[in-house]
Amino acid sequence: MKTVTLIPGDGIGPEIAAAVKKVFEALKVPVVFEEVNAGKAVFEREGTYLPDALFESLERNKIALKGPITTPIGHGFRSLNVELRKKYDLYQNIRPIKPAADLPMKFDDVDMVLFRENTEDLYAGVEEVISENEAHSIKIITRDKSERIIRAAFDYAAANKRRSVTVVTKANIMKATDGLFLDVARDVAKDYDVPMKEILVDNMAMQMVMNPGQFDVIVTENLYGDILSDLGAGLIGGLGMIPGMNKGKDMAIYESVHGSAPDIQGKGIANPTAMLLTSCLMLDDMGEGASAEKIRRAVYDVLSNPDTRTADLGGKLSTEDYVRALIERVGE
Ligand code: NAI
Ligand code: MG
Repeated sequence: MKTVTLIPGDGIGPEIAAAVKKVFEALKVPVVFEEVNAGKAVFEREGTYLPDALFESLERNKIALKGPITTPIGHGFRSLNVELRKKYDLYQNIRPIKPAADLPMKFDDVDMVLFRENTEDLYAGVEEVISENEAHSIKIITRDKSERIIRAAFDYAAANKRRSVTVVTKANIMKATDGLFLDVARDVAKDYDVPMKEILVDNMAMQMVMNPGQFDVIVTENLYGDILSDLGAGLIGGLGMIPGMNKGKDMAIYESVHGSAPDIQGKGIANPTAMLLTSCLMLDDMGEGASAEKIRRAVYDVLSNPDTRTADLGGKLSTEDYVRALIERVGE
């Protein structure tokens, strides 16, 4: 049995975490969850968003499955996600964008893996309020941090025989920062046989919507990666369908792309697929790929049937009924 830190999180987090626990139990997946929460609910109880018990658990287990955490908008709050990613230097944010079921979709050739730099860029949190009428956010791009994420993308592309790596920047406007990222990419690309494509982020957004099949592995800075992965989610059924992971040298936190979805919290209609597919990425890395495949197959079969879809996919099933259908399918 391996121990994994489970952070249910805020909003729909506990509902989708419960779904993962039920599916793991039904499949007898050899994983023990050590549950330590973080976020708003913990703050209301303990006066801190990220309790020490969480850091202890993460440092002990080195592997976590995390639900979404609500970040209050406004002064004085840094995103807790950004804080965790920085603290443990989880520099690779990897988001596979591929349909997980036969859903009505505009394209049938979407198969991308987006590598997002996860520790700097405008997420560095270097902001200054100059006056009531002026504020600055500083964009930070460094050679080292660009190089390691770009190398991760090329390594992945080479190892998995992918067709190309597309580097996304706005180097025509931000010549210093994005120019540096692009320069590093051109250097790194020389070490690989994988072809590199260059594209500006605005055109990328348009191309992904018009003709996503032309892209394969994508590597980009933190903010562009955030935005393009939500766009990618829209191509494959929405935020309820897209998994993700944050990886560093010796720790990984697996979490979906979506947030805490306060608009549907407590209604019992959240789609737990993204969190389940995220748990599959974790199982793959833990050497439990067989369990992951069973879960993926069940998701595919259940969601390919219009009668057994959740509300975000136009269906009628509640979270619980959907999980029940998955478990029945897994048991067959
Ligand atoms: P969101 O991703 O929570 O929701 C956007 C829309 O997608 C909503 O209409 C929501 O109902 C829907 N949606 C998202 N996940 C779904 C699911 N699994 N099933 C069905 N529908 C789903 O984004 P929003 O509203 O911008 O952010 C809400 C909060 O989440 C904010 O406080 C934000 O900071 C936080 N957030 C946290 C993240 C994390 O912890 N990794 C990531 C993104 C946002
Ligand atoms: Mg995001």
